[in-house]
Amino acid sequence: NEQAEAVFVIFGSTGDLAKRKLFPSIFNLYRKGNLTNKFAIIGLGRREWDNEKLRSVVKESIKEEHGEAVAEGSSEFLDHFSYLSFDVTDKDSYANLLDEMVLKEDEFSIPGNRIFYMAMAPEFFGSIAQSIYSSGLKETSGWTRLVIEKPFGTDLSTAKQLNEEIRKAFSEDEIYRIDHYLGKEMVQNIQVIRFANAMFAPLWNNRHIANIQVTSSEKLGVEGRGSYYEKSGALRDMVQNHMLQMVSLLAMDVPLRLTTDEIRSEKIKVLRALRPVVGETIKENVVRAQYSAGSVEQTDVPGYLQEDNVDPSSHTETYVAARLLIDNHDWAGVPFYIRTGKRMAVKSTKIVVEFKELPHNLYAKEAIKTGPNLLIIHIQPDEGITIVLNGKKIGSADTTPVHLEYRHDSEDRVNTPEAYERLLFDCMMGDATNFAHWDEVSLSWSLVDAISNAWTESDNQPVSYKAGSMGPKEADKLLEADGFSWWPVEQM
Ligand code: BG6
Repeated sequence: NEQAEAVFVIFGSTGDLAKRKLFPSIFNLYRKGNLTNKFAIIGLGRREWDNEKLRSVVKESIKEEHGEAVAEGSSEFLDHFSYLSFDVTDKDSYANLLDEMVLKEDEFSIPGNRIFYMAMAPEFFGSIAQSIYSSGLKETSGWTRLVIEKPFGTDLSTAKQLNEEIRKAFSEDEIYRIDHYLGKEMVQNIQVIRFANAMFAPLWNNRHIANIQVTSSEKLGVEGRGSYYEKSGALRDMVQNHMLQMVSLLAMDVPLRLTTDEIRSEKIKVLRALRPVVGETIKENVVRAQYSAGSVEQTDVPGYLQEDNVDPSSHTETYVAARLLIDNHDWAGVPFYIRTGKRMAVKSTKIVVEFKELPHNLYAKEAIKTGPNLLIIHIQPDEGITIVLNGKKIGSADTTPVHLEYRHDSEDRVNTPEAYERLLFDCMMGDATNFAHWDEVSLSWSLVDAISNAWTESDNQPVSYKAGSMGPKEADKLLEADGFSWWPVEQM
C-alpha cells in the first residue's frame, strides 16, 4: 500500500465541495490504509467555527456515506482535523496558519509535506497562492503542492492572468488543476481500452472510425448556482474542461510510456490540432440552446429563464452540441460530436465510437441491413462497455445486431466521492497525470473563446429545447450533414 504523509490545508472548508467530496474522500483513503497516522487536515474559512464544529461536519459527511456506526467509530480520524477562522486578505491569518501547520507536523510526526487545496471562490486563488509564498508557508523540508478547483479563469486572458499569479508562487510541477472527470473510473479506462487491446489499437484512426460521439447529459438544472452559471453557461462549465478532456483522451496518439509528461504531451497535441470554430463556420458546427419549461421524470420543472438568479432575458446556454474536427494524420475527416446539457431526459455520460462499414459487405443488401460496429464506453451512471457486432439471426438468414455487454458493479456512483478520492491520492503521491496541465487549459480556452466570440459577432441566440428532452432538433442537423445521427444513448 502506498501511503501519504502530509498536512492538508483546505481553503473553503466550510463549503459544499469540502463536505460533499473532500471529507468523505479523505476518510475513505484513511479507511483503506492510504493515509498513515502522519497526516493532518487544517480547515480554513471565514466563519467563526472551531475544531469541534469542523469535526462534527466531517462526522456528518461520514455518516451520510457510511452510516451511523462508522461515523461513531471515526473519532481517531476526526482528531486529525482542526479549524482556523481565516481572512484570505490578512497577513496574520497566514502567520497563524504557519504556526498551526508546524504544530500539527510536530504532533503527528509529518515530514513537512504540505498540500494547499483551493476549494473556494476563484477570485482569491491568485492572491492566496502569493500570500502562501510570501508568508513562508512553502519553506519546508518536504514538498508543497497547490490543488486548484475550477473554474480556472473565465476565458483565455483571465486564465493566463490567474496562471501568472499562481506561477509566481508555485512551479508548474507543483500545481494540480482539478478536472474531476479525469478521476472517473471509466474515463481512466479509455486509455486501457485503447492501448491494451489488439482489437482496437490498430483500428483507432480515420481508416476505420467513422465518427465519435460524446454525450454528457444531466437531469439537474442550475441548482441555486444561477449567478455563477449565468456567466458561465454550458460552454465554459462543461466543454472547456470535461468534454475536451474526454476528446483528448479519445484522440491522443499512443504515448511512448505511461508517464505524466508523455501522456500530457499527446493530449496537448490533440488540442493543438483541433480546428478552431470561427466566423461563419460556427453555424454548421455548434448548436447553442437553453431549456424551456418541461418535465423531468414526470416532475414539472421551470425553464432556465424562470430559475433563481437568472436574468429573465438571459442568452446563457444550458446546452451545447458541437462538431469538432482534428486536423492531423489519424483523424482528418472524422467528426467528433460532443453534446452536453442540463435538464435533459437522463443523467448519462457515454462515448459511442462508430466504425466504418466494410467497403464490400456481402450482407448489406436492400432487405437485410447490417449496421456499423460500435464501441460504447459507459462512463456514468453505469460503468462498462458495449460492443455492437453484426450476427446471424437465429433460425433465419437475416443479420441482427449483437450486443456484447460488460458492466462492473457501480450502483449509482454518480455522486460518490470516488473521483475525488483517486485524484487526492494521486496528488499526495505526486502524480499529476490526471490533472490539467497549463497547456491543456490554455488551448481549451482558445477554442472556447473562438466559439464564444463567433457567437457574439453573429449575435447568436440560443435555440430552445424542452426540459426533459435530449436537446434541440438543431443538434441532429450537425450530424445529418455528414450522413450520421446521434445514437440514442439514453436507451443504451
Ligand atoms: C461540474 C459542473 O464541473 O460538473 C456542473 O460545474 C456539473 O455544472 C458537473 O453538474 C457534472 O459532474 P458529474 O460528475 O455529475 O457528471
